[in-house]
Amino acid sequence: MSDKKFKRTLVTSALPYANGPVHIGHLAGVYVPADIYVRYLRLKGEPVLFVGGSDEHGVPVTIRARKEGITTQEVVDRYHKLIKESFEGFGISFDVYSRTTSEIHHKLASDFFRKLYDEGKFIEQTTEQFYDEQTGEFLTDRNIRGECPHCHAKDAYGDQCEKCGRTLSPDELINPYNAVNGNPLTKRATSHWYLPLDQYQGWLEKWILEDHKEWRPNVYGQCKSWLDGGLRPRAVTRDLNWGIPVPVEGAEGKVLYVWFDAPIGYISNTKELCDSQPEKYGSWETWWKDESTRLIHFIGKDNIVFHCIVFPSMLKAEGSYILPDNVPSNEFLNLEGDKISTSRNWAVWLNEYLEDFPGKQDVLRYVLTANAPETKDNDFTWADFQARNNNELVAIYGNFVNRALVLTKKYFGGAVPKQGELTEYDKTTIQEFCDIKQNLEQLLEQFRFRDAQREAMNLARTGNKYLADTEPWKLAKTDMERTGTILNVALQIAANLSIAFEPFLPFSSEKLRKMLNMEKAEWEQLGSISLLSEGHELNEPSLLFEKIEDAAIQAQLDRLARIKKENEEAAWKAPEVKALTNIEEFDKADIRVGTVLECQKVKKSDKLLQFRIDDGMGGRTILSGIAQSYPDPSVLVGKQVLFIANFPPRKMMGTESEGMILSAVNSDGKLVVTTVSSAVRNGVQVG
Ligand code: MF3
Ligand code: ZN
Repeated sequence: MSDKKFKRTLVTSALPYANGPVHIGHLAGVYVPADIYVRYLRLKGEPVLFVGGSDEHGVPVTIRARKEGITTQEVVDRYHKLIKESFEGFGISFDVYSRTTSEIHHKLASDFFRKLYDEGKFIEQTTEQFYDEQTGEFLTDRNIRGECPHCHAKDAYGDQCEKCGRTLSPDELINPYNAVNGNPLTKRATSHWYLPLDQYQGWLEKWILEDHKEWRPNVYGQCKSWLDGGLRPRAVTRDLNWGIPVPVEGAEGKVLYVWFDAPIGYISNTKELCDSQPEKYGSWETWWKDESTRLIHFIGKDNIVFHCIVFPSMLKAEGSYILPDNVPSNEFLNLEGDKISTSRNWAVWLNEYLEDFPGKQDVLRYVLTANAPETKDNDFTWADFQARNNNELVAIYGNFVNRALVLTKKYFGGAVPKQGELTEYDKTTIQEFCDIKQNLEQLLEQFRFRDAQREAMNLARTGNKYLADTEPWKLAKTDMERTGTILNVALQIAANLSIAFEPFLPFSSEKLRKMLNMEKAEWEQLGSISLLSEGHELNEPSLLFEKIEDAAIQAQLDRLARIKKENEEAAWKAPEVKALTNIEEFDKADIRVGTVLECQKVKKSDKLLQFRIDDGMGGRTILSGIAQSYPDPSVLVGKQVLFIANFPPRKMMGTESEGMILSAVNSDGKLVVTTVSSAVRNGVQVG
């Protein structure tokens, strides 16, 4: 830690909702960066605690329960277990991973609320909320649907219209109804407790805008715009039957708002750990109440306001807790160009990855860090995943290590050879990697994990180049002493790589250390050229990384293509029937049958196809904007198609089009030209 006033670091990572499995977006945005940071601090021997857990309250888990037809408790039990196993599988090294349904948490969150309540830190307000008379329940925003006031989609949510993307409040919806059962909604008065954030505005402005200018620009910027907009009181309770009951008399049927209890989960989980092993972890209060603890929250960008504004205000209101020193938040990771979505199954699920790519946890960790959405949204593609594995992990890091070990085995029976006199070239190479420790520290302490990992990979590049330039396999024929020196230097670089990569690729570092027959090294030793002493026996070399073949990538792409298709089909609804017409109106269109004689792309246009039609009347040319649906237009030649014969001729791209070919618009937006079910004479009318 650069800042001397801190003695220990408490790292938290956002508690994922236990309403589904975790995916690559979670890993890239929050858990891999947090884990890199924690592993780095541990390697340096600094006191650090890494706290995580599942967020098991709130509406998302109740919605999932309804969807799957099981109880909410079953939902959270199922996904807590799955999420925990996925994190373990990827080596996310939590000191504690608990859940917000734990007894300790219920008590702590309840007491937290009660203290603020007793001290008059809340205001109570009665408002009119949407109510379902039949089921006797108040509805939360996500459970209310209705017509969008902007685009008039009939099924907009109370907080957002998915059709036009606008943010809504339930009051704006036309004809609101209960999303679960379709019941119409009325309004009913209900009272709730609010945290008056407006009263914390001045304090927050100083604490964030003046005292934390070092926060990432995306985080600082979002805080500033919230503050500039002016803060308003926020309800911290809800009418719901799933959650922590509001510990106030007469508040039956009300629970703490999930965003009130979840961040308190960080505290409860710390307490759970410390209380279970006080000799090892000390008192939980040291971690949460001592000014010399540095608190860091790792989160995704949709969580910024809660961690930078709401939770700190809660902690400030309570009075005895420390505040976060930094909140390194990432932007979003997309998947093959589309937003990751749990409900649309558009994700790479961590549990599935672990099954599909056993032993390749580090590959995904590597790719997600190399492509981390630290400053802007980024895209995960399987092609990039394969390329980074094959061209970087295998071809650079793995290849270098393998050559150093195999050559040592071949020429020196697997014992580290003597480091003789160093040449100028050896010295420049060594100089390059002596700086690595300082460079990595600087980057890691600024949460620049992507650059830090690149720095580690550059060390592998240096090693690879060193062997390629010095060619010890040739020298071995004439100069064993020089060969020994080169391999000694190469092995020292390999040993350094196991330390440099430890925070990023823990599984591979361990594997490499085994091959090098090395104890777990300390961070302090990074940059040393005498990590392995002369005569030290190495173990049997094996491949550090393996090539990923096209077939494995294709299988993933096929899966995504299938999901995309399923989603399109599920989303398709028959278009509304047009306003009434009659036979006279319809009869005005002269629809006929003709055979396609020729069909080709119009030059310089990516939309138009040019048809030559035998229309039974001497032939005609028709241009049609369906090129994107027919990559190979020749498939249409010989088909009998339907066309409108009495449109006025129209010039497009220098050619006159005499009519229009009829096509059906499929659910995926593709156009399909209509034909007749058995042959008829060209030029006959359709009606
Ligand atoms: N469950 C929330 C989400 O997935 C994050 C909660 S973080 C905590 O967006 F602070 F509340 F714990
Ligand atoms: Zn809309």
